[in-house]
Amino acid sequence: MSLWFRRSPRSLQGKVVLITGASSGIGRETAVAFARHGARLALAARRRHLLEELASELDHLGCETLCVPADIADPVQVRNMIHKVHQHFGRLEILINNAGFGLAAPLEKTTPQEMEHIFAVNAFAAFHAMREVIPLMRRAGYGHIINVASSVGRRAIPFAGAYSASKYALVGLSESLRVELAGSGIQVSTVFPVRTQTEFFAVLVNKMERPYTGLGPIQPATRVAEAIVRCARRPRAEVLPFAWLRLSIILNALSPRLIDAILTRILRRIEGRP
Ligand SMILES: NC(=O)c1ccc[n+]([C@@H]2O[C@H](COP(=O)([O-])OP(=O)(O)OC[C@H]3O[C@@H](n4cnc5c(N)ncnc54)[C@H](OP(=O)(O)O)[C@@H]3O)[C@@H](O)[C@H]2O)c1
Repeated sequence: MSLWFRRSPRSLQGKVVLITGASSGIGRETAVAFARHGARLALAARRRHLLEELASELDHLGCETLCVPADIADPVQVRNMIHKVHQHFGRLEILINNAGFGLAAPLEKTTPQEMEHIFAVNAFAAFHAMREVIPLMRRAGYGHIINVASSVGRRAIPFAGAYSASKYALVGLSESLRVELAGSGIQVSTVFPVRTQTEFFAVLVNKMERPYTGLGPIQPATRVAEAIVRCARRPRAEVLPFAWLRLSIILNALSPRLIDAILTRILRRIEGRP
């Protein structure tokens, strides 16, 4: 049995960390938090100017950075991203699959193209990235893959079916891989943020007839970032930055109908229906 809980936390000094979705929100805050621990950072996202802005901010903290602009919906760009980072630093110890986006729409209005695209970014990109890094980590005998899923990857909410499904897919990949890699020196962790204050709701694809801001409690991005760094220092299977989420996961496992009823009530209130 692993005795990780008895060991002192791992040092992140000099560790090479690749963060996807580093141009904004959780990814950006996670980069800042790792930089404070002396890690070396590879920053990925599509918006190059935001990555460069962040890199120059991190320079002031004495952090070595590499910007790797990439659209992770494209598997070729994912592969190139991993290899650029490995070539540049000569290693890649921590991969954080964080990039993602939301889609608010009833299932009937979700097109197959939208479904494919959200899976490409939120699930397949992590799959391709993991396939590329595992051999590198195996050779090094060390590695940590941290996948940022969502609370809705444990219990879906209405009008977020495609998004939830993409996060369930990511959770499934992570759970399976965690056991496949047991004993290899490579850790796999899944992060389940609840609603978080980022650009997420401003940029999500909204096909509803009203603004969509999700459901449930809301937390700052720094809280998620700190939880991710804690997990890198003391690897855990699952990270719930908002601890009460565990209660709703248990309740849903015991009685999905109860959670259905609660969600239906909340929806009625939002829509002003009796
Ligand atoms: N905010 C929430 O309420 C919440 C709750 C649970 C889980 N999450 C998850 O947390 C993760 C981070 O989200 P966030 O809240 O920080 O949202 P955010 O502020 O919108 O950040 C999303 C990041 O993903 C990047 N991204 C999106 N599409 C991409 C693509 N095709 N290729 C490369 N990068 C792409 C964006 O960069 P570019 O636009 O520059 O490419 C951005 O850096 C996501 O996986 C999200 O699903 C968020």
